[in-house]
This record gives sequence, C-alpha cells and structure tokens, in this order.
Amino acid sequence: MSAARHAVFGQPIAHSQSPRIHAAFGAAEGIAVDYRAIEVAPDGFAAALEAFAADGGVGANVTLPHKQAAFALCSSTTSRAQRAGAVNTLLRKGDRWHGDNTDGAGLVRDLTGRHGLDLRGRRVLLLGAGGAARGVAPALLDAGILEMVVVNRTPEKADALVDAMGEPGRVTSQYWDDLRNQGDFELIVNATSSARQGGAFNLPLSLVNSMTTAVDLNYGDAAIPFLAWARAASCRNSVDGLGMLVEQAAESFQQWHGVRPQTDAVYAMLRERDAVLVGAD
Ligand SMILES: NC(=O)c1ccc[n+]([C@@H]2O[C@H](COP(=O)([O-])OP(=O)(O)OC[C@H]3O[C@@H](n4cnc5c(N)ncnc54)[C@H](OP(=O)(O)O)[C@@H]3O)[C@@H](O)[C@H]2O)c1
Repeated sequence: MSAARHAVFGQPIAHSQSPRIHAAFGAAEGIAVDYRAIEVAPDGFAAALEAFAADGGVGANVTLPHKQAAFALCSSTTSRAQRAGAVNTLLRKGDRWHGDNTDGAGLVRDLTGRHGLDLRGRRVLLLGAGGAARGVAPALLDAGILEMVVVNRTPEKADALVDAMGEPGRVTSQYWDDLRNQGDFELIVNATSSARQGGAFNLPLSLVNSMTTAVDLNYGDAAIPFLAWARAASCRNSVDGLGMLVEQAAESFQQWHGVRPQTDAVYAMLRERDAVLVGAD
C-alpha cells in the first residue's frame, strides 16, 4: 500500500526541516511517510493546495507566509487555531480542509517536558505579534501563566493579538520604548523574525530576574543574537526553538497518523546539525 500524501507549503521552503522530521518519525514508528516540501507564492497558495488534494494529499503543514491564508481556506478549525487566527496543520475531511495550530502546544511541550519548566504563575513578556506569536500566546495562557505583556515593532498588531486572546487585564500590550517600566519577567519569548533580517535587540536588563528563562522561537543562526543577549543579561536559562519545531511536528504527525511519535531521537539528530540549520519552518 502506498503512503498517504503529506506536504509542507511555504516560501521559501528549501531549508525546511519538516520533511526530514516526518520521515524520521515514520521510520521510528513503522509508518510509511510520503511528505514533501512545496514552494508556492501567496497568490498561488489556494490553487496549489487544491491541486495537492486532487492528487491525493490528505494532510499538510503550512509555514511562512501562508498561515493566515490557510486559516481562511479551512471549512472548520480548532479553537486554538481560531484564537491564533492562523493554521499550521491541515487535515483533509471529505472534500474540505480542517485546520489546527500546533505551534503553541509544541512550545509548551518543549518547555515543560524537555526543559522541566513550570509555567504556572509566571509573568511572560512576548516579543512579536506575527503568526508565531499568535500561535504560542493561547497555549501559554492555557498552561497557567499569570499574565502576558505583548510588545511589537508595529504596536497595532500587538493590540490585535491582545484583543484576540479575549482576556483584558491578563494580556496587555505595551510600547517597545516603555519596556524599562514594565518590571521583570520569569519568561521572555522572542517570537520576532528580527535576526533573520539582520536586526539586533535593544532590551533593558531590568526585564530579567533570578528566575528568568529566555526563549527564542528561532533556531540555528537566527537564534544567536537574542540568546547572546540572554546570556549577557544573566538569564537563568536560555532555550532556542529547535525543541518547539520537533514537538509541533509531533502534534501534526499524531493528528494524521493517530500515533504521537517519540521526539528525543529526532531532537538529538537536529541538535547535531544545529549549526547549519537556517530556521525556515
Ligand atoms: N521553532 C518553531 O517551530 C517556529 C515556529 C514558527 C515560527 N518560528 C520562527 O518565529 C519567527 C516569527 O515567525 P512568524 O511566523 O511570526 O513571522 P511573521 O508573521 O512574519 O512575524 C514576524 C514578527 O517579527 C517582527 N519583526 C520582524 N523584523 C523585526 C525587527 N527588525 N525588529 C523587531 N521586530 C521585528 C514583526 O514585527 P512587525 O509586526 O512590526 O512587522 C512580527 O512581529 C520566525 O523567525 C520563525 O522562523 C519558529
């Protein structure tokens, strides 16, 4: 029997680790996997997805810049995808697409499972308000954090994220320039793509306390500037986005194949290659 067809759609997509991750999950679980990377520009995304379905495609991941477009194309979505306003996992149901967002669950699983962090009662600073920030914010709230402050280069997008979370008071937005007046945080999450465009961070040391964990959703070279700041600021822990990448993939795999794969071996394989990863998923 031939394998069910899956794919990841994005632009650019050549450096995506997802085909490698899903192939490794399949090999370890004894499940045949046919998972390929499909590069498509935004104006061709809807047609490419339909062509994929017509050709037998039953599930897909979606990455930059198509996560919001994928959400709009779905006939049904999970509540976490609705709060994110973005979809990274598609499942074919009949002749329609069902959408989910596994980014947040992937991050929380990595932080609590792999890194042993207890997120309950934590003050969280979320840097960024793009698709990844929208994906991780609901999961962090559901994990029991105390409050979340959202800061974004374009303040209107931080306000929109706060509105989408629907928890005024617990989730607030602030201006980047006001960060030195916001006190300290136990968790600081970099959900920006700043480093991928050569941007550098200017964050006050007053954000850090003796408990602070700094998390960069980026990995490989793109995680270097923020994690260097975290070390210079004496953060207690610093974590890059490699574990989240593997865990969000495992969540997708489970939805498609009905089995949650073991992730440690795949994480270790990618960690060995970390220096050459580009961070395109
Ligand atoms: N580890 C994982 O599994 C995983 C999963 C998803 C994403 N990611 C990574 O997370 C990052 C964000 O992804 P995304 O999907 O959210 O991208 P996105 O939707 O394009 O959002 C980009 C975010 O970065 C901000 N930004 C960009 N350049 C900046 C700069 N020079 N200074 C300050 N802020 C800047 C943007 O602010 P504006 O709103 O002002 O433009 C926006 O908040 C990417 O690098 C991606 O690789 C990792």
